[in-house]
Amino acid sequence: QKIDMELEAIEKGGYEHFMIKEIFEQPRSIGDCLRGRLNANEGHLHLGGIQDYINKITNADRILIIACGTSWHAGLVAEYIFEEFCRIPVEVEYASEFRYRNPVVGEKDVVIAISQSGETADTLAAIELAKSKGATILGVCNVVGSSIPRATHAGSYTHAGPEIGVASTKAFTAQISVLAMMALMIAHKKGAIKESVYRNLLLELDAIPDKVAKCLDLNPQIEIISEKFKNATNFLYLGRGYNFPVALEGALKLKEISYIHAEGYPAAEMKHGPIALIDENMPVVFIATKDGSYEKIVSNIQEVKARKGQVIAVVTEGDTEIGSMADHIIEVPAAHEALMPLISVVPLQLLSYHIAVMRGCNVDQPRNLAKSVTVE
Ligand code: G6P
Repeated sequence: QKIDMELEAIEKGGYEHFMIKEIFEQPRSIGDCLRGRLNANEGHLHLGGIQDYINKITNADRILIIACGTSWHAGLVAEYIFEEFCRIPVEVEYASEFRYRNPVVGEKDVVIAISQSGETADTLAAIELAKSKGATILGVCNVVGSSIPRATHAGSYTHAGPEIGVASTKAFTAQISVLAMMALMIAHKKGAIKESVYRNLLLELDAIPDKVAKCLDLNPQIEIISEKFKNATNFLYLGRGYNFPVALEGALKLKEISYIHAEGYPAAEMKHGPIALIDENMPVVFIATKDGSYEKIVSNIQEVKARKGQVIAVVTEGDTEIGSMADHIIEVPAAHEALMPLISVVPLQLLSYHIAVMRGCNVDQPRNLAKSVTVE
């Protein structure tokens, strides 16, 4: 017993929980994911694992992304990146729905299955179904040699290292990093992206680990904000564009480990429902970094303030406009909007972690949840 506890303490590397250790590992885990694949200064990007299928993907009629949980959120980010830069239609599906609903899939479809564990039963069954209809299956997995990579035709590992905390953090950012590389490699091969845009995105990707490290410096500030909201019973997370999936992921993290009811929504959909919930007791987290939908989200923040909601806003460094409206602002480094989820998710991971710890929850092993779900 004592030896087990000491071993666990060593594995946590001085951190109190695996989750916070894994959040803090992200500059390194994203770096590990990019290493040997991206050489931004030379303009090189190479994912060896999908090389043999590159023509197939470039000529795909459609890309289907299949996943569950946090991996499904990474899939939503990937949908926006692939459609914007590759101009290939993308659909993102919950594996559990796909496998039971008689979907239309054919030989010109490319399926990307995303899974940290590589063992999720629904994702594996969805892969087998798509494979039986002739689709090409690629995997984006973290655990080397797990069942999903063995069931796919090709794929790329995320190389995030073992993730122990049940709530996924570093696997999520590694998944987005791999998917962004895949999308850019295909866009470039297809000639769908301007060379200057491509080169700039490679440099932007290369800069992500350092920017994530800067986000981690916000930890003490986020702890203070967490203290203020730890007794809330509901939370709303709102984002637009590339930050919409981040809103979903922020809400998922909070509900998973702190048991506070939280909903993520596209900010513009607020007026079709969630706005009815807003009063002085409702904390609303806006992911409102400078991007194409910035002005729109500023007006969404005004709508929430007009109803006395408590606004916590994740904004780009130097933003003064939102600072004057929000109750709390968290300033993150600027980045290309397509890569912003890699940055904007970090403060939300920290917020959920601190709130859960303050509520006395078991953050690494939340009730009723499993790290890998090998049953349907
Ligand atoms: C479980 C885990 C989540 C994970 C999901 C999908 O629910 O608790 O953290 O996102 O399964 O798992 P996968 O291993 O396929 O990414």
